[in-house]
Amino acid sequence: MEVIENLLRAMTLEEKIGQLTMAARGEVFPPNEASEAEVLHGIRAGRIGSLVGTHGAEVTTRLQRVALEETRLRIPLIFGFDVMHGYRSVFPVPIGETAAFDPVLWEHTARMAAYETRAAGVTLTFAPMLDVTRDPRWGRVVESPGEDPWLGAQFARAKVRGFQGAGIGMPASVGAAVKHIGAYGAVTAGRDYASVDISDRALNEVYLPPFRAAVEAGAAVIMPSFNDLGGVPTTANVDLLRDTVRRRWGFDGVMVSDFNAVAELVKHGVVDDVAQAAALALQAGIDIDMASNAYGLGLPLALERGDVTIGMIDEAVRRVLTLKAKLGLFEHPFAPELDTAERDAKLVAARRLAREAATKSVVLLKNEAGLLPLKPGQRVALIGPVVGADGLLGAWHAAGKEVKAVSIREALHLALPPGALSFAKGVDVEGEDVSGIAEAVRIARQADVVILSLGELEGHTGEAASRARPSLPGRQRQLAEAVFEVGRPTVVLLSSGRPLTLPWLIERAQAVMVLWFLGIETGNAVTALLLGYANPTGKLPISWPRSVGQIPICYSERSTGRPFSATDMYTSGYLDTPVTPQFPFGHGLSYSRVAIRNLRATPAIVGMDDAIAVEADVSNVGVMAGEETVLLFVRDVVARIAPRVMELRGVTRISLAPNASGTVRFDLPVKSLAFPAGDLGPEVQPGEFELMVGSSAEPSALVRTRITVRG
Ligand code: NOJ
Repeated sequence: MEVIENLLRAMTLEEKIGQLTMAARGEVFPPNEASEAEVLHGIRAGRIGSLVGTHGAEVTTRLQRVALEETRLRIPLIFGFDVMHGYRSVFPVPIGETAAFDPVLWEHTARMAAYETRAAGVTLTFAPMLDVTRDPRWGRVVESPGEDPWLGAQFARAKVRGFQGAGIGMPASVGAAVKHIGAYGAVTAGRDYASVDISDRALNEVYLPPFRAAVEAGAAVIMPSFNDLGGVPTTANVDLLRDTVRRRWGFDGVMVSDFNAVAELVKHGVVDDVAQAAALALQAGIDIDMASNAYGLGLPLALERGDVTIGMIDEAVRRVLTLKAKLGLFEHPFAPELDTAERDAKLVAARRLAREAATKSVVLLKNEAGLLPLKPGQRVALIGPVVGADGLLGAWHAAGKEVKAVSIREALHLALPPGALSFAKGVDVEGEDVSGIAEAVRIARQADVVILSLGELEGHTGEAASRARPSLPGRQRQLAEAVFEVGRPTVVLLSSGRPLTLPWLIERAQAVMVLWFLGIETGNAVTALLLGYANPTGKLPISWPRSVGQIPICYSERSTGRPFSATDMYTSGYLDTPVTPQFPFGHGLSYSRVAIRNLRATPAIVGMDDAIAVEADVSNVGVMAGEETVLLFVRDVVARIAPRVMELRGVTRISLAPNASGTVRFDLPVKSLAFPAGDLGPEVQPGEFELMVGSSAEPSALVRTRITVRG
């Protein structure tokens, strides 16, 4: 582009490096946060090209004016912010929204978030987070689409489409910075920022597919992860970033480091000083240094030392300026002026969407004897510390605190007849005070049914929130046990950002619903589900372990030479715990019950370029109308690389009235049976494949058939 080349010719080295520098402002990470005066000075001097953490129409407009009116070259700033699950209208956290298994919903919530975000002057969101994870100890499970690479890839496409719309320069779109490439989800022992050491096969098969899908969907920006991969910090990983992402995948967008990650190359121990750190990151293809100022301090020296060339710096600057042009910032640098009527209509639509998303994200794990939905006339005791709106929006709630969030307690109170609801907190989420348990027990005794609302708070999840014991914090177990002793039918509501290992609780509760963190419409969605105005449809996007010892855990294990057998001890299991998870991937009940039968694949013998129509009959054998999400898994029966026992390749849904039947259909391209073979390139190996269809990954509940792929 001519404007860009002209700018490049006019820029000093300092101004070029300025375009590669993202400064931190706002309450992102205090140690790196520049003061207002420093930021203003940096912008005026052309030493800051973008900001992380600044949001809101007023402040972005004010700073943008400084960039446009008080700098030599008048280059607009990019404002980047973590809009992970809504900006003002906060939707369910990503792990929760993934439980909806619904790409249309995923796209709609991102679209709405993009509209609200751009209106706040922010043009880049650090989202979607696409780290596959199989370790509930890791706090960032809450931000991720769960354990499955194929599902993660669907999530990636939907979110990129939603955030970026028809183009990132449109007034209701933002650029998507997909993160954090580099198998971050596999950090050792679930400890945030720890090292990752996995095979190239696992990297290609499990961790990269969502990122590849995001690149194919046109993601504007990629952020590498904090961790090292087999000793190579991702921020300096030439093989991954330059060779795989840029060369093999053809990604020509911007790469932004994670927060302070360039300077942290020194602490990783791979370089001595910040100039070498800057050189390594630039060599790997990192265009923007987020918040470490290593480029500002180090690149001039790295250039002098000959570790980088001016050509490499120009290449990065060109990409950043191209991104600014694509974002439309040269023509429309400010937050768009919104028509008031349109803004009000959008707020109403956003709330409706937030309720839909929240309702679809809840997963009903257990419902003994049809305890749920609650019956009219029942006296309900709501017990527990997790019933308010505080701490329940999710770790990245952006500007969500500016909007009314509906709590479980207030929504239930409004929905039940006067006098039918009593409430006792019992204990706090954290802390040792158990003096409120007696009151909780007292109200439980007077009720027909107890709703016990327990879990984590948003601060227990997200970045730097690993937990060695992912269970209930504080004295919540003591509260739960005292309430179970009363003997009333008890529904447990679990708010959490990850599966919690709670076999004792799941055993004793008659019904358990996982809420995750549902956003501003939490109370309304939960109440509708409890009372049966809505029928649960969510499914676990991550296996739910029984104990920490089972972690990492996932449904798509590789076949072993000694697969578990209950009658042979020399097989792969535990002496003290079942080998199965508490609940498998895809598990999620509803108030209806479906039966799936008669799986057929046509044609059953196929060539490499064919597609297979996979069909199954589904009947609603329950008494309530419902919608069922049906999953298609595949298995390569014999392959040179030991195949995984099953892998997700299709999701579809069907709505059925009681006693009604219908047919679900998946169109399965034979190419999607490929896996990374000898050279880690995708390969479909001829031979037999097993197809499995069911409501979850529970092997005993799947219907199966086989197809043959001709060589
Ligand atoms: C660090 C986090 O790892 C990343 O996900 C986030 O986008 C940045 N901080 C900016 O807030």
